[in-house]
Amino acid sequence: MLDLPELPYSYDALSPFMSKETLEFHHDKHHNTYVVNANKIIDENNIKYDSIESLVKDSYNSNPGLFNNAAQHWNHIEFWQWMKPNGGGNIPGELENKINSDFGSFEKFKADFIAAGATQFGSGWCWLVMDSNGKLSVTKTPNGENPIIHNQKALLGCDVWEHSYYIDYRNARPKYLEAFVDNLVNWERVAELFGS
Ligand code: FE2
Repeated sequence: MLDLPELPYSYDALSPFMSKETLEFHHDKHHNTYVVNANKIIDENNIKYDSIESLVKDSYNSNPGLFNNAAQHWNHIEFWQWMKPNGGGNIPGELENKINSDFGSFEKFKADFIAAGATQFGSGWCWLVMDSNGKLSVTKTPNGENPIIHNQKALLGCDVWEHSYYIDYRNARPKYLEAFVDNLVNWERVAELFGS
């Protein structure tokens, strides 16, 4: 069965950029609901799987209800780890060089990432991904869709569902995205994924 992981920091650790109230709702209610719903479908249909990644991939075309919940479970497990207190700031050297070479500059990456999240119509995610040829790019996906189903490696993702920002930023999604990049991103985690 799938388990809801603990947050890797305290509920108030990301304040003021992401409040305790947002993390309580987002982790304890929204993420937990995805886990409960996915487990119910897995249990009722006696579905076997090797990993959460294979569950996401295999359910994409065959079982939309399971896919939505399993993909959102994976997305949120990663999302919690993509943030840290006092995030943003310095990017480990090799990753910084790669961002500069594939986007032209960090500022260009940041603008592209924020634009992707801001223009994702309705609920979804924006991503920094690595394609199979090793090139980095910025993408956006609707609802629970993620880079796994597009055969890309997710290096960084930001949840742009309203439940992720509405308490703290109301309708100002671009402001939330800017705060995410400037103050929340755990670049050591992104570098770890880039190097692995
Ligand atoms: Fe979310």
